[in-house]
Amino acid sequence: MVSLVRAGAYTRALRSKYLPSLRTYASTSSPPKLKDKSLLKSEAYINGKWVSAKSGETFAVNDPATGTKITDVAELSVEETESAIKAAHEALPTMRKMTGRERSNLLRAWHKLIQENAEDLATLITWENGKPLADAKGEVAYANSFFEWFAEEAPRLNGQTIPASGPGRRIYTLREPVGVCGLITPWNFPAAMITRKIAPAIAAGCTVVAKSPGETPLTASALAVLAERAGLPPGAINVVTSLKNTPAVGSALCESPTVRKISFTGSTNVGKLLMRQSADTLKKLSFELGGNAPLIVFDDANLDTAVAGALASKFRSSGQTCVCANRIYVQRGIYDAFVEQLAAGVAKFNVGNGFADGVTHGPLIHARALEKVDAHVQDAIKKGGKVLIGGERRTDLGDHFYAPTVVRDMTADMQLACEETFGPVAGVFPFDTEDEVVKLANAAEVGLAGYFFSEDVTRCWRVAERLEVGMVGVNTGMISDAALPFGGVKESGFGREGSGLGIDEYMTWKAVTVGGV
Ligand code: SIN
Repeated sequence: MVSLVRAGAYTRALRSKYLPSLRTYASTSSPPKLKDKSLLKSEAYINGKWVSAKSGETFAVNDPATGTKITDVAELSVEETESAIKAAHEALPTMRKMTGRERSNLLRAWHKLIQENAEDLATLITWENGKPLADAKGEVAYANSFFEWFAEEAPRLNGQTIPASGPGRRIYTLREPVGVCGLITPWNFPAAMITRKIAPAIAAGCTVVAKSPGETPLTASALAVLAERAGLPPGAINVVTSLKNTPAVGSALCESPTVRKISFTGSTNVGKLLMRQSADTLKKLSFELGGNAPLIVFDDANLDTAVAGALASKFRSSGQTCVCANRIYVQRGIYDAFVEQLAAGVAKFNVGNGFADGVTHGPLIHARALEKVDAHVQDAIKKGGKVLIGGERRTDLGDHFYAPTVVRDMTADMQLACEETFGPVAGVFPFDTEDEVVKLANAAEVGLAGYFFSEDVTRCWRVAERLEVGMVGVNTGMISDAALPFGGVKESGFGREGSGLGIDEYMTWKAVTVGGV
């Protein structure tokens, strides 16, 4: 408690030093407006039609910044999920028959429509997810880059010719679409996580049943409106909406013998469940699961670059990103200077409603997220961590706001060291040697992203190889890019999204041997 009280005073001092004219926003006065109102959908999209739930059930989608309801959305059940799977199965021959160039053209048309409607899509993202509008615009561009990328891949799905071992035979390979794909995506990037899966699936000639996130279904549905306008045939893209029925819809996708592939982004625990549910039908799987990313700052780092990288990585989307730095390890020689500069950077943030001018960080998605963040901070304080800035709920702004926080003197027994916080808390741990920090970084069961900062070129090569993660940022906190093979190792899952590898997750190799040549 003592350190929290002190932290409050320190926070005020930092804020008045760095942000004398700080404005806060509890809420904007009127609901956001879309230029094209037809992008706001309450129904699900199956076989080219917008459908309500047969039960008539709906669920509320709420604005996390204000707590007000945006709209009610159809609560689909297993029965409707099965009709979506059937529609996707029936559309498969049409998609398979198209040339890669034709599928590329569909993706390009969709890409163009997303560009034209970028402002409305960003509005929907901010409205249902809470992230600041500038970040939402960035997400739309990022999401759309997957259409561009995979439109370029679709016409180049080359096979191979392979010399056979014996005489008179020839071998060649064909790359074929895996079939109907079940895509299950999270709320933290309502556009980018779904396009990163749909774009390669369509490029490969697959059809999809996408289960949109219960908290943020509106962006996915708006993308489906644009898919329809782009000319995607009925059944090629189906979007199932649900909140309460999400576990049942997920297991219907995993257990269906018609669905040949599941791609899931979400927690490690849910990933394990979906893998078990998919076992009886031996599906192709790609899972992007939890991260608990280490970010390491060596004494030989450029301090400004390291602080900027930590701020960008840790606080992106208010810390609600799988690749966010979670454990920040700083070598003792640079430790005090780093934490001071990090706290000063955080003092410049402006927390509030994502639609308000100047807001840099929005609310968390829901009350449960806040509980976890606060529990990690309280646990750190109890065990000797010192809050330099933040460390409190921002109830003055609404129910879902947490002050961006820096805690120093972190130790390995704290919850934040072992679990992904998924919130705006930078816990900074001191360390002495490279061997020690590599061991600490690799102690996690998960291994999605890792970052480090050093000006020593040999260390850069060495530590990049020593970290047990799927993606490494060296002297940068931002790695996301359609060109990056995105994915993890250990309990962060398997499979890669984006890049030249991403499309393989939606294809199979067929080997053809021709005899008597
Ligand atoms: C994620 O949070 O899973 C994805 C973040 C990204 O693509 O940058």
